[in-house]
Amino acid sequence: MIALGIDTSCDDTGVGVARDGEVLANVVASQTALHAEFGGVVPEYASREHTRVIDRLVARALEEAGIGPKDLDLVAATYGPGLVGPLLVGLSYAKGLALGLGVPFYGIHHLEAHLAAAGAVEPPYLALLASGGHTHLFDVPKEGEYRLLGATRDDAAGEAFDKVARLLGLGYPGGPRIAELAKKGDDRAVPFPVPMKGQKGYDFSFSGLKTAAARFLEKGYKKEDLAASFERVVVESLVDTVSRAARALGRKRVVVAGGVAANERLRRRLEETGLELFLPPPELATDNGAMVALAALKRIRRGEPPSPWTLEAKPYAPLAEASHALDVE
Ligand code: KG4
Ligand code: ZN
Repeated sequence: MIALGIDTSCDDTGVGVARDGEVLANVVASQTALHAEFGGVVPEYASREHTRVIDRLVARALEEAGIGPKDLDLVAATYGPGLVGPLLVGLSYAKGLALGLGVPFYGIHHLEAHLAAAGAVEPPYLALLASGGHTHLFDVPKEGEYRLLGATRDDAAGEAFDKVARLLGLGYPGGPRIAELAKKGDDRAVPFPVPMKGQKGYDFSFSGLKTAAARFLEKGYKKEDLAASFERVVVESLVDTVSRAARALGRKRVVVAGGVAANERLRRRLEETGLELFLPPPELATDNGAMVALAALKRIRRGEPPSPWTLEAKPYAPLAEASHALDVE
């Protein structure tokens, strides 16, 4: 089974090809430069840019995979959550391509795709999704069942990286830039608090760190030290909460996905917990099309039917809406 997957949920056009669990191609066109001067993603510009490049990107992904369109068994695209205009571009393109080729179409939930990037995991397991838009901790007692244990009360983890990076004048996306600068800093030099430390539940909170960072910057702390100390407490908060949940629920396996899963310090600290980890390779951690293809192939293996042609883009789509999910918040 060969699947083509498309993700246009935000400002990256991602197209990937996968055969069963194996990624054959993964091409991503980033729009970062296009939105840079506005200090954030301009949805209308994003839609137009997706429209402009998607044809070429699909051609390139097929070429990289060494296949032609007729070799595809199905086409999949992210239907939500995300920006509605950008979502519509990938979704409509995927439906059109599937119709034209006479193959099934699968609409995929963006978080389900991020999880699929971590590979095949036997439930029960915990799943932490940490990206620019989400910080969600799920318990997955059986395949396709997601129980929300906790989520961020304000900013997402990736969003915190982006906001603090902006404060430090590092540009976007903030995660990789802070991680780079942090290598030169002292991670104990700036007294950031570890967010939500001592709580009984499994929620997260990162917006206080942004305020603290602004104050510490004014006080004259070095940017390298700010980056390193900030990164340390974000990672500590994520790792503490996940380990606590794993202990409480008796889970041994943990999937960590989403853009922040590309963070090296996070990966290192997770490895020290002794939990059995399932992490996507860094290039599959941030938004891409291959993870969408992988998620669609998983659905087929579970014997799930294709999505209806009438499936719409859903800017707000709880994971509960993924057709197979049984139980969520
Ligand atoms: O999953 P993703 O590509 O897009 C969303 O669905 O949001 O995640 C992007 C987020 C950004 O906030 C970015 O700063 C963060 O992931 N990120 C990182 C790293 N690479 C990307 N955060 C920390 N360390 C990284 N190495
Ligand atoms: Zn994402």
